Amino acid sequence: MIQVTNLTKRYSSVLAVDNISFNVERGGVIGFLGPNGAGKTTTIRILACYHPATNGTATVAGYDVFKDSIEVRKRIGYLPESTPLYPEMRVREYLQFRGKLRGMVGNDRKSAIGRVTDRCWLGEFINRPIGQLSKGMKQRVGLADAMLNDPEVLILDEPTIGLDPTQIRETRKLIRELGERHTVLLSSHILHEVEAVCSHAIIIAKGKIVANGSPQELRDKFSSEAKVIAEIKGPENEVEKSIRGLTGVEDVDVASTNGWVRLAVKAKQNCDVREGIFKFTTANGWSLREIRRDGATLEDFFVQVTAQQQQTRSR
Ligand SMILES: Nc1ncnc2c1ncn2[C@@H]1O[C@H](COP(=O)(O)OP(=O)(O)OP(=O)(O)O)[C@@H](O)[C@H]1O
Ligand SMILES: [Mg+2]
Repeated sequence: MIQVTNLTKRYSSVLAVDNISFNVERGGVIGFLGPNGAGKTTTIRILACYHPATNGTATVAGYDVFKDSIEVRKRIGYLPESTPLYPEMRVREYLQFRGKLRGMVGNDRKSAIGRVTDRCWLGEFINRPIGQLSKGMKQRVGLADAMLNDPEVLILDEPTIGLDPTQIRETRKLIRELGERHTVLLSSHILHEVEAVCSHAIIIAKGKIVANGSPQELRDKFSSEAKVIAEIKGPENEVEKSIRGLTGVEDVDVASTNGWVRLAVKAKQNCDVREGIFKFTTANGWSLREIRRDGATLEDFFVQVTAQQQQTRSR
C-alpha cells in the first residue's frame, strides 16, 4: 500500500532522510517511530505530497507521489504535525469547506461530516468557532478532516500529541479500529503508544531506518540479548567464579551489599542460564532471593538501536 525506495531528502546542509526504503502492506496500523529530528515528519510530508524528495521514489495506494500526486491525495487522509485550521470558522463550516475541496457534495458530504464528528467526539462542539477550541479539540478536528473522504490510507503525524489521558486512550482505540478497514501510518516518539496500537513498527533515527518488524519481533530480537538478574547470599569471589564457569555465560557484573551479591549476567545467544544459576547456588548451600530475566521492552530496543545509529554517524 505504501512503497518507499531509496528516498532521500536534503534541506540545504541538513540530510533529513538518508536513502530509506520500506514497504507497508494493506491494512493494519504501522508505527513510524523515532526520536526528535529523526526524519519522521519529513518522510510523512513526502508521502502526503507536501514536498518533493531530493532522490528516490514513493508510491501510495499504487500511485507515484511525485507523478500522480492528485490521485494520491484522493486516497489519503493526512493529519499534519500542527493542524492548520481557520480560527474564525465553526467546526461544521470548516468540515463542509474541506468536504467541498475534496469534491464531496449534498447528502454524501452531510453524512460524512456526521460520521467523522461522531467518531472524533466533536458533536457538542460542531457549532463552536475553531479559535475557541482547546488544543486537543483542534487535534480532533484535524483528525475528523483526515477521515472525511473515508481514505484508503491515513497518515497521522503524532496524532495523540496535546490530548489528555482519556482522549489519548480513546484516540488509540479509534486508530486501532481504523486499522481494521484502512491502512494507517502514524508517527510517534512514544514507545508504549506504538506497542499499544501498532501491528508493525519502523524505527528511524538520524534519517536512517534502524529496525523494521512487529513490536513482538523487535522485542524478541532484543530480549535474546537480555540479562538475567540474580541475588545470592555467599562469598562474592566464589559466587563470581562459579557464575563465570557456567555454560552459556558471556559476561557478568557483580555488586555486593549487606552480604548479598547482585549479579547481572549476560548470556550467550539463545542460552537460558537461570537453571544453572539455581543449581550451583543450592549445591553450595547459598541462599537465592531473586532470579529473573531483565524484562526487555521495546523501549530498551529503541534506546539501543538509536544510540548505535548515533555512534555510527559521529564516527
Ligand atoms: N524546513 C526545513 N528546513 C531545514 N531543515 C529542516 C526542515 N524541516 C526539518 N528539518 C530538519 O530535518 C531533520 C528531520 O526533521 P523532522 O521534522 O523530519 O523530524 P521528526 O522525526 O519529525 O522530529 P520530531 O519528533 O521532533 O517531530 C531535523 O534535523 C530538522 O531540523
Ligand atoms: Mg515531526
